[in-house]
This record gives sequence, structure tokens and C-alpha cells, in this order.
Amino acid sequence: MSILAATPPMGWNSWNTFGREINEQVVRETAAAMVQEGLRDAGYLYVVIDDLWEDDERVDGRLTWDPVKFPAGIPALAEYVHSLGLKFGIYSCAGSHTCAGKPASYGYEEIDAQTFAEWGVDFLKYDFCYTPPGVDGPMLYQRMGQALRMTGREILYSICEWGTNEPWTWGARVGGHMWRTTGDINDSWESILHIGFERQVGLEAYAGPGHWNDPDMLVVGMYGKGNVARGGCTDAEYRSHFSLWCLLAAPLMIGCDVRAMNAATREILLNAEAIAVNQDPLGRQGYRVGQTPWGRQIAEVWAKPLSDGSIAVGMFNLGDMPNRLITVAWESLGLHDRRPCRVRDLWAHEELGVYTGSFSTRVAPHDVALIKLTPVSG
Ligand code: GLA
Repeated sequence: MSILAATPPMGWNSWNTFGREINEQVVRETAAAMVQEGLRDAGYLYVVIDDLWEDDERVDGRLTWDPVKFPAGIPALAEYVHSLGLKFGIYSCAGSHTCAGKPASYGYEEIDAQTFAEWGVDFLKYDFCYTPPGVDGPMLYQRMGQALRMTGREILYSICEWGTNEPWTWGARVGGHMWRTTGDINDSWESILHIGFERQVGLEAYAGPGHWNDPDMLVVGMYGKGNVARGGCTDAEYRSHFSLWCLLAAPLMIGCDVRAMNAATREILLNAEAIAVNQDPLGRQGYRVGQTPWGRQIAEVWAKPLSDGSIAVGMFNLGDMPNRLITVAWESLGLHDRRPCRVRDLWAHEELGVYTGSFSTRVAPHDVALIKLTPVSG
């Protein structure tokens, strides 16, 4: 039996770029662009509408869509998305209202889950605003987890609780397939450093096939435009961000406007070798091997064991030192010093040769060397 989210979920979510500007046309054009640009075929399957799709009031006890933004309605939109071979996701919240103040699912879990199932929803992002004081957080997620299961439809359950109650310790138990581990990401290097490099350390024991830590959606390709824009990042910073998310076995939910990607964004989001690291069937979340500070200049090495016995390694220059030399030592990865390994560069897409004991390379500021070490018999 195949399990849902056997590898980290991949797709697109409206929030980072569109925020409240979301509507039917944007979603249709996005879905079409995902096919044309090759994103669907690269594995990005879920098209998820975040908050602010809802109308202000329930009708006959049911949630309904904003008729101005979605004149043809959500079921028709889901059908269109499905017709392109993509999956359709939507958003609600465990409290009385969504974070943006629309009606949400507290006390309506069963009817809302049923409604979503009837509309053809394949993915539910479930937020944590306006929860009643004194009501247990994990219990609220359990209620929706149960309601989703009772629909009989396969719906991926994305818990968005910001790490408040350590959801990595109970997310899978309540039926979650992924759970946010932090507050919201924004389109800046500082945010990537904080959410990615600082806050994911130590969570690797909690992820695996069917249940993933979620350090929030990608900001790759936003360049300071859109709802969570905070100055934007360079291509090197987006490359580091994407490399880390791949090593973390994090869900890869694109946040930029895929209708208007530049060449650098395409190259990053469509890097099949990096995606293969993320989607490796072993499902191990990468971990921080170590950190070398040099004053305030920090270099880090992260590693993700892969199913074929090879190891993906990220060598990150988090500081501003030009061309910083970074070394990964075999012993830090559990490899014997004398074991020869083939080294492949997953951004340059080339073999770098066979090394023994360690591998060193120079990395530009805020950039990364993403390599794969494949042990060979010596
Ligand atoms: C919270 C979530 C975000 C987004 C907004 C929508 O802040 O963490 O990811 O869904 O709500 O209002």
C-alpha cells in the first residue's frame, strides 16, 4: 500500500506572492504555467490556495468562496487543476477565524472536511489563529485530522501551528503529513538564516515517509516582490535556501509567481539533481554536521543520507568572506577516512573526481556547494 506523502510534498502556494490578491484567474494561470514550465513534471503537484479565498459568512453552516474572486466557484477550479494532472489544495484554520479574519473551522470540523472533500480538495493547510483560550492546541488538530479521515477522501493534512506546541512530537499522531516548525518565512536572507539554518537543527529525528517537518514555503524567485517581500534575496541566497530545503527533506512549496520566472529561478526550482535529494525514498531529514565560526563568519556543513548509500552534502558560506574555503571530513559523516568517494556537484551537474578523507572547495558569500558523495570500492 502506498502512503500519502511518502516523499516530501511539492507544489505551489498562493500566500508568499499573492496574499489577499488571490483569485480564480491567478490560480488558473499558475496551474497552466506549472505545466508549461515543466514544474508539474519535475514533481510540483499541489496547487494550494491560502487564506482569503473565503466569503465573509457561512451559508447554511457551510464555508463558501468569495464570489468576486472566484466567480466560477472552487469546485470548478479544482476540476480545472485536476484536468491538468495537478492536485488541488485549500486553507482553513483551527480557530473561529482564519489569520486574516475569515470564518474558520472551530466547531465545524466535520462539515468543513466534508465540504472540502465534495469540492475535490486534495490538500488542506490548517492554521492556528483565533483558537479559543484554554482549548488544547493538539486536540484541535486531532479533531480536523479525524474529520478528514471520515470523509474517505485522500487529503494531505498540512498542519500550520508555527511550532508553538512542538508539533513534531504529535503531528503524525493526529494524522498530519507535514507541520510547520516556525513562524512565517519572508523574502530575505535573514529569514532564511533564522528559519532554515537556526530553527531546524535537532528536528531531524521527527521526519520520515508520510510525516515531514515544514520550515515554510519557498521564497526562491520572489526578488522582493509580493506579499512577504522584505527586500528580496540574491540568486546565491535562493540557491542556498533551496539546497537546504532539499537536504532537510522539507516540503517544496513554491511561493513565487511561476508565470513570470526568470532563468535563474527556473534553474533553481527545476534542478532535478537537487530535487532527487529532497525526494529520496529513504526519507531521512538532513542534519547539521557542524559549524565553523571565524569571528562572525560562519561556515556550515549539512548532510542527508540517501537510499543508495551515498550522502548529499551542503557546504554553506553563511558569512561575507569571499571565496571561503570549506572542508567536509569523511569522519564527520561516518565514512572511513580511507574510503574513496566519487564527488558530484549537483549545481554544476558535473563529476569532480574521486576523493579520500575529505573534500574542500571555495564557496562565495551566502552561496553553497551542494555535492553528492558516492562511496566506491577502493
Ligand atoms: C499565517 C500562516 C501563513 C499564512 C497566513 C494566512 O500567518 O502562518 O502561512 O497562511 O496565516 O493568513
